[in-house]
Amino acid sequence: DRAMGIFTSGGDAQGMNPAVRAIVRMGIYLGCKVYFIHEGYQGLVDGGNSIRQATWASVSGILDDGGTIIGSARCKDFREKPGRLRAAKNLIDHGINNIVCIGGDGSLTGANLFRKEWDSLLKELVETKEVTQENADKYKNLNIVGLVGSIDNDFCGTDMTIGADSALHRVMEAIDCITTTASSHQRCFVMEVMGRHCGYLALVTALGSDADWVFIPESPPEPGWEDQLCNKLKSTREMGQRLNIIILAEGAIDTEGRPITSDGVKELISTRLKYDTRVTILGHVQRGGCPSAFDRLLGTRMGTEAVLALMEATATSQPVVIAISGNQTVRVPLMQCVEKTLAVAQAMHAKKFKEAQELRGRS
Ligand code: F6P
Repeated sequence: DRAMGIFTSGGDAQGMNPAVRAIVRMGIYLGCKVYFIHEGYQGLVDGGNSIRQATWASVSGILDDGGTIIGSARCKDFREKPGRLRAAKNLIDHGINNIVCIGGDGSLTGANLFRKEWDSLLKELVETKEVTQENADKYKNLNIVGLVGSIDNDFCGTDMTIGADSALHRVMEAIDCITTTASSHQRCFVMEVMGRHCGYLALVTALGSDADWVFIPESPPEPGWEDQLCNKLKSTREMGQRLNIIILAEGAIDTEGRPITSDGVKELISTRLKYDTRVTILGHVQRGGCPSAFDRLLGTRMGTEAVLALMEATATSQPVVIAISGNQTVRVPLMQCVEKTLAVAQAMHAKKFKEAQELRGRS
């Protein structure tokens, strides 16, 4: 009579649906009841019709769909204690004490805190007679498994997050399209890509597209970079190159932590070099469309492993994240990964860029 709930939270990512599908089917295969919790943490807080039982058929034909069929949201209510109390009650009312959270670092941090607070939430629910003592005893352990769904690939502990590979495909396709028109008109393009505070998408697409320059937050350009950039572009044109491509991560900063913007870079190049320069901000196109083969497989592998981890959880098990390491699916402690991810953010904030790079590299 085991039951598990799945939700997707934070920004969507291609590959979430393959993960949802794998969780539902593996769960049912192992004899569990599986529940969809719609609209992320909001559905957990709202309960009612937001928590619905999934069937084998409810995940048919979604392997190649981008986004998430169960919806995603950034939820304020769950940040407050009353919201978490409602969430705990809703879970117990449905007999669910196993959950899979598919989301980014913020969502997984929330899951970890919820798990830590579980005992005290149950106590309060019993005191207020929202939950019976019998049910509180029955569901005293909350088992949580996290899957990292984010195009940013910014989570320490896994080589790849679900969605990053598909986003790379989207960005590469866009750059390939831009280069033909850029070349015809001898233009320079500044392409801004997503990634929040992480430069993964920008760096990898720059390497894969023969870009002339890349700006990423983890490695801000040294003072005087403006001259270096202009000299570099000039030298490529002198060698006969007809176009220039500059990739800029949306979180790009200088060594003082000041944002480097696509408009700022465009202004610099058009003023100093008089090149016809345009900005393309790819935006949410990067999160859209169908998942790549890699992400379909990644979601499937991670989802399957998540169910196994839940089924093997004991009273003393700590929450885990299903990660990919050296192409093997592994379980890593959620707590440690979240802490390391936060440490990277703190190092970046303190402008300790080398330290941030090392922390990311070692993860
Ligand atoms: O975390 C994924 C991401 O797409 C980031 O790359 C981007 O900064 C952010 O989400 C955009 O968020 P929203 O869709 O809420 O505007």
